[in-house]
Amino acid sequence: MATASRTVTRALRSTPATSALKTAPRRFAGQGPKLHPRRGYASEAPKPSGNNTILYGGIAAVLLGGGAYFTFGSKTSPEQAAKASSAAGAKNGVFTPSKEDYQKVYDAVAQKLIDEDDYDDGSYGPVLLRLGWHASGTYDLETGTGGSNGATMRFAPEGDHGANAGLKAARDFVEPIKEQFPWITYSDLWILSACAAIQEMGGPDVPFRPGRQDRDVSFCTPDGRLPDGAKGQDHLRGIFYRMGFNDQEIVALSGAHALGRCHTDRSGFEGPWTFSPITLTNDYYKLLLEEKWSWRKWNGPKQLQDVGSKTLMMLPTDMALLKDKSFRPVVEKYAKSQEDFFADFQKVLVKLFELGVPFTSGEDARMVLKRTA
Ligand code: HEM
Repeated sequence: MATASRTVTRALRSTPATSALKTAPRRFAGQGPKLHPRRGYASEAPKPSGNNTILYGGIAAVLLGGGAYFTFGSKTSPEQAAKASSAAGAKNGVFTPSKEDYQKVYDAVAQKLIDEDDYDDGSYGPVLLRLGWHASGTYDLETGTGGSNGATMRFAPEGDHGANAGLKAARDFVEPIKEQFPWITYSDLWILSACAAIQEMGGPDVPFRPGRQDRDVSFCTPDGRLPDGAKGQDHLRGIFYRMGFNDQEIVALSGAHALGRCHTDRSGFEGPWTFSPITLTNDYYKLLLEEKWSWRKWNGPKQLQDVGSKTLMMLPTDMALLKDKSFRPVVEKYAKSQEDFFADFQKVLVKLFELGVPFTSGEDARMVLKRTA
């Protein structure tokens, strides 16, 4: 069987790995990513910076967040809502952001992604997406707690949860943007940045709906709500059903592992899942199916290694998608069609990012912000 790894060099790239992908449409909408290709492997973590800045900034944001009003009506387009909110803002002296204002934030995130290309595989994009996911993935349907509303990962109990190791790099990345646009809440900024990261890495459009408010430390969620890569399908179902996702959605969400890598000083695992970790493709599913995987012999947690190049990895939870009778057909579907993956990935991300958010606007207030490339 032709394997993805044998068709390419070992260097990580910003283009897809498989020959099939060279002809397949790489993008769902808009243009390709402007991000630079990777120049080689690097897994050095960024230097830590003071936690207090984040904490005090967070407290300031709680105060500021309380002053920002979102007046988007439930049956208006983002443009109408923007006009209405500007008019209302002008009347009562409160700044009410318009779609153009959110676009400015998007552009600042995208520009910073382009400028700061010496991180990891050449982009902060993957870690920004992970920040948005870990902010949202604490949601509990039954109690209505957790989710992206609140940005409670700014505070020590949640920021220090093992699953969130390394996400300070993403929180620090967006900090200057928060300073530039103090009217946006951290909660909205993290999600907008995750949407921008996906679009800038060549993924589908991810409609963004503003309206999250920052919350204080008392809203931090308990440890253990995010998945553990060392476990199997029962664990995956336990975690994702708790948020209200089904099997197909679990598989679609997992395709995010086409991006980024594991770091020994964060999760303990090591390596990227694909050869193009800063470009979103359906390679994750292709590689899962087409490669031969064996347990890596090393002094670290149990993870799989591709037999062909020995440079890629899969977590036990990734492999569980292949073993499970209900998950596997969805893996096969997305391996066959990047278009199907992108369409479902878009839907499931919008759902993830909006879990538990008490929006005062309707779904029609979602806005697709324009990608740079
Ligand atoms: C299915 C259950 C999941 C498990 C067990 C899991 C586990 C992990 C682990 C262990 C890492 C490595 C962290 C590090 O060492 O830096 C990681 C990275 C990552 N995950 Fe997941 N994850 C899951 C689902 C998701 C979902 C749903 C998304 C997004 C929608 C996502 C996006 C990412 C990204 C983009 C990275 C790379 C981060 C970077 O390069 O810094 N993951 N994940």
